[in-house]
Amino acid sequence: MKTFISFLTTASLALLSSTVLAQSSLSANSIWQDIENTVTCAGCETLLVTLQALAHLGNDAFVAIIASVCILSGAEDADVCTGAIELEGPIIAHDLREMTIPSKTSQLFCTTFFGLCDYPAITPYTVPFPKPKPATSRPAASGKTPIQVAQFSDIHVDLSYTTGANYNCTKNICCRPYTASDAPGKTAYPCGPNGNHHCDSPKTLEQSLYTAIEQFAPNAAFSIFTGDVVEGAVWLVNQAEVTTDLQNAYTTMSDTLKMPVYAAVGNHDAAPVNSFPPQAINTTISSQYVYDTLSSSWKQWIGASAATQADNYGAYSYKLPSQNLRIISINTNLYYKENFWLYEQTIERDPDGQLAWFVTQLQVAEDAGERVWVLGHMPLGSGDALHDGSFYLDQVVNRYSATIAAMFFGHTHKGEFQLSYSNYAAQTAANAVMTSYICPALTPTSGSPAFRVYSVDPVTYGILDYTEYSTSLEASTYQTTGGPIWSPYYSAKAAYGPSVGITAASAELTPAFWHNLTTVFQANDTLFQQFNARKSRGYGVSACTGSCKTGTICQLRAAQAQYNCVAVTPEIDFKKAKRDGVQTGEGHGHGHGECGGSKAKEILMSLVGNQEELRNAIDRRMVMMMMM
Ligand SMILES: *[C@@H]1O[C@H](CO)[C@@H](O)[C@H](O)[C@H]1NC(C)=O
Ligand SMILES: *[C@@H]1O[C@H](CO)[C@@H](O)[C@H](O)[C@H]1NC(C)=O
Ligand SMILES: *[C@@H]1O[C@H](CO)[C@@H](O)[C@H](O)[C@H]1NC(C)=O
Ligand SMILES: *[C@@H]1O[C@H](CO)[C@@H](O)[C@H](O)[C@H]1NC(C)=O
Repeated sequence: MKTFISFLTTASLALLSSTVLAQSSLSANSIWQDIENTVTCAGCETLLVTLQALAHLGNDAFVAIIASVCILSGAEDADVCTGAIELEGPIIAHDLREMTIPSKTSQLFCTTFFGLCDYPAITPYTVPFPKPKPATSRPAASGKTPIQVAQFSDIHVDLSYTTGANYNCTKNICCRPYTASDAPGKTAYPCGPNGNHHCDSPKTLEQSLYTAIEQFAPNAAFSIFTGDVVEGAVWLVNQAEVTTDLQNAYTTMSDTLKMPVYAAVGNHDAAPVNSFPPQAINTTISSQYVYDTLSSSWKQWIGASAATQADNYGAYSYKLPSQNLRIISINTNLYYKENFWLYEQTIERDPDGQLAWFVTQLQVAEDAGERVWVLGHMPLGSGDALHDGSFYLDQVVNRYSATIAAMFFGHTHKGEFQLSYSNYAAQTAANAVMTSYICPALTPTSGSPAFRVYSVDPVTYGILDYTEYSTSLEASTYQTTGGPIWSPYYSAKAAYGPSVGITAASAELTPAFWHNLTTVFQANDTLFQQFNARKSRGYGVSACTGSCKTGTICQLRAAQAQYNCVAVTPEIDFKKAKRDGVQTGEGHGHGHGECGGSKAKEILMSLVGNQEELRNAIDRRMVMMMMM
């Protein structure tokens, strides 16, 4: 029934809202009062009682009223309000209808949506393992000639990118003719052909990435892609676009890259954005088409058997034929706080059974003496990771730390890393057990486009070094018709090795190495500021001192989310942060949802954030309704 952009006019919204309001004891004023009083966790739960009553009126009423409040508050452009709430609203309404208030679920909801409750305590659980951990440890580097592996991430290709369209629009991604005045020839801010910091990647930029990988790593054994194909105009994205975008990107990869690509599913690779309902949920909304599309795109590289696994929930385990290496690609959306399906009344301990499957696959690898790389989209210690799932996964990483050589993620758009420990309370080089390598994005929204080439021990599959490559949007040659020109940006071992005392080409960058680097960061602020600038390829950098620096180092040492020092903060005005280009709490968490992407969450949050504006809007609204 719903169309691609079912744009409800203000008039029909007003009609629907006033009818619904007349039939219930709810009024815009009473909703407003609840919102205005919402400055505490208890107050948030009162607000949820109101929103729950709204949800019980049905999805259409919930969507109409929240969209109408959004439009009147000026939180987003009207088309964004309507499109985003129409897509994501039914999922949130589903959560609210089933919710017991108060409960762990309602507390978690208030943490994520409004920042008004502390994270609820983790539900204790000891993950069962088929065998006890053997007395083996991380193997020493072999000294054999390394192999090369490329990693790229967060390509966010916008097939509607229009050269000459306005790059200075009011939405989170521009370079599209959203309105007549945004069209080429009509705007004072025309974008070039190869990309802009206010826009997702044009196809030309995506193609130049694969060409550059072939240029700089012609002999790479394979490449890894850690997810997020789809662009960020999330209020417009539907199933047809997701399918087209995924097929288009994977076809371009296979046409351009001579090496195989082992990929993971990103949170943007579904419509509604972030919507990955676990199978246990009773809903007609499904992301099976995502899994079907990925499974058939990936089959050329992972074979029929692993492709069949990927069709279940996007995860697969694949032993490379010519390497003693198993790739285990997991769907991190099942632990992602903006996958609103996870706010079930009884929060599932192991959505889709992925955790148990992960253990099974690692046991297979351990028994066979295989080495393992874990791929995923969202780093498991990120501020976006639900604490419970992160805790359970980290138990698995600790158990199999002698088998897993390294883990690889994207999502943050930043070049960074995270460490797992066997003892987070007393972190040392000796108890650092695993490194998660986090690759920056292709999309230029948070810095110049980048990718990495790793130098890899061919026996242990430990990482000996990586070189990050970038193409600067600020270069005079960037918009040339030949495409962006890429060059090496930095090498991890050259940049950080001397300070840690590890410089030999054959030495592994072990978890102990990265832990020692975080210790050097504390002592050598010059080196830390260089690292901080490199995270965004020098884009929008300001000195990171005080709590920014301690928070950043804390996040580097937290592949388990409960230790990441990300503060839950109320009343963030996302819209203002976005417009002003403010980096909110960078280094731990991220800004305006550039990788999160839920517009509905920003909109609900802005109900708390724009109190004065919203009050005036609702007053106008009440007057309007009385006149009808
Ligand atoms: C965007 O447009 C505004 C005026 O509408 C102008 O002040 C601002 O500098 C422009 N931003 C960029 C990045 O060009
Ligand atoms: C699933 O939801 C539908 C519609 O809300 C309902 O009629 C049905 O009883 C539910 N099934 C289960 C097993 O809860
Ligand atoms: C890390 O630092 C500790 C303590 O200074 C040292 O014993 C260890 O060798 C270092 N390890 C690496 C890999 O640099
Ligand atoms: C701190 O790091 C900088 C940048 O790598 C380096 O040049 C300098 O020698 C280091 N200082 C100390 C005291 O190690």
